[in-house]
Amino acid sequence: MIDLENHVGGAWRPGSGAPTASIDPSAPSRVVARFRLSTATDVDAAVASAADAGPGWAVENIHQRAHHLRRTAEILRERTDAIAADLTAEQGKITAVARGEVERAATVFEFFAQDAVQPLGESYGSPRPKERILTHRVPVGPTLVITPWNVPLAIPAWKIAPALVHGNTVVWKPSEHVPLVASHLVRALTDAGLPPGVCNMVLGDGSAASRALADPAVKACTFTGSTAIGLAVEQAAAARHIPALTEMGGMNAAIVLADADLEFAAEQIVAAATGWSGQRCTATSRVIVEREVAERFEKLLLAAVRLQRVGDPRDPSVQLGPVTTRRQFDELGAAVELAGRSGGEVLSGGPSGSAEEGFFVEPIVIRGLPADHRLARDEVFGPLIVLLEAADLDEALTVANDSAFGLSGSLFTRDLDSALDAVDRFDVGVLHINSESTGADPHVPFGGFKQSGTPHKEMGRSARDFFTRVKTVYLRSGAR
Ligand code: UN1
Repeated sequence: MIDLENHVGGAWRPGSGAPTASIDPSAPSRVVARFRLSTATDVDAAVASAADAGPGWAVENIHQRAHHLRRTAEILRERTDAIAADLTAEQGKITAVARGEVERAATVFEFFAQDAVQPLGESYGSPRPKERILTHRVPVGPTLVITPWNVPLAIPAWKIAPALVHGNTVVWKPSEHVPLVASHLVRALTDAGLPPGVCNMVLGDGSAASRALADPAVKACTFTGSTAIGLAVEQAAAARHIPALTEMGGMNAAIVLADADLEFAAEQIVAAATGWSGQRCTATSRVIVEREVAERFEKLLLAAVRLQRVGDPRDPSVQLGPVTTRRQFDELGAAVELAGRSGGEVLSGGPSGSAEEGFFVEPIVIRGLPADHRLARDEVFGPLIVLLEAADLDEALTVANDSAFGLSGSLFTRDLDSALDAVDRFDVGVLHINSESTGADPHVPFGGFKQSGTPHKEMGRSARDFFTRVKTVYLRSGAR
């Protein structure tokens, strides 16, 4: 067990709120890390530290800022074993996925270090003599970063790295379920030589984030998490007229047409629905199959589901570790009951054993529910697939789009017309044709439509747009 502290102004210091702890979801009675929640005083100190460090960091040259990112990537890689082990302990990811996440975070830091050599503005002609008109990107200011527990290293990386390289200081409030993983990242940044106050971390619950968001010194907020909280973040940010980027829930659909390679589609969909125990905002949760192949596809899907072993995330033969929280374990159990009560058929899965033995859930496959049933509408974070049918692509797209969310989606087909139709009409921010619905490459914009997020995309060049403001400069020589 380990005791954790906030990181404020370059120093580690404990929060001054109630003591609490993170636990191992494979063995919930085991405490992984102890820490104290942050109070208003702790949060105010972190924001003040980010505000103090802001002007110096903003004028540090971007190549030097990028150097810290590159060094952070190296340090993360060097510490892969330790960080991945703690990720598995605190979040429940299987070892291979945890190691993959450390590598992903390192890649993200490297990618954003490259922003130092990308253009930061444009040059325009002037209607006046001896003048150039330029646009230049300047930092937005101290940025609040609020991150979830499901991707506790890589999501913070793709928010913090672009914030820092573009000259913003950070106050980071990670999920209270993963403080140890968060502390690893702050330690890597600190050991990379990041100056004091540039990246501050407060451990705490939602009240800490709300406090920071209300502080006039915070000039932007980037959030990933549930839609309910994301919408509240947007409102609080709008009330203060500061930019907010929210990346929220999904109820992602995969459409399988009769001409697809059904076996391949089944494998891909199962990977998308059960990978990381389904705890991915991009996970597939609705599968809409063209009716004429529904029966055949269902058999293939169940065969692929049966290959997934649930158990100890440290066992290399296991594909699904536990879900991370007791709340999800209970919600997934309730979903299975609700499906049965509503006339649906649970073809496989559900919580295995009691919560005290670990939050293990076998992948759940449900069929026979109407497309507007709660389980096909509201996100349940975990390995759960609702099987639906449609007469053709038209109907499948109508069903897929009839959702409050619009994060990612998949279409499986070998027909180019159908694929092009989906590009035009599948109302999602990230569309996969013949591949599963998860994943996000660091050099590519990522983000959803509708209640899945704000129009600001993450990663790629889009990140620069969010973390900077465009200044227009009329540059004229002093000569007459
Ligand atoms: C991915 O599928 O790797 O919380 C991206 C999430 C998303 C990111 C997932 N914000 O799952």
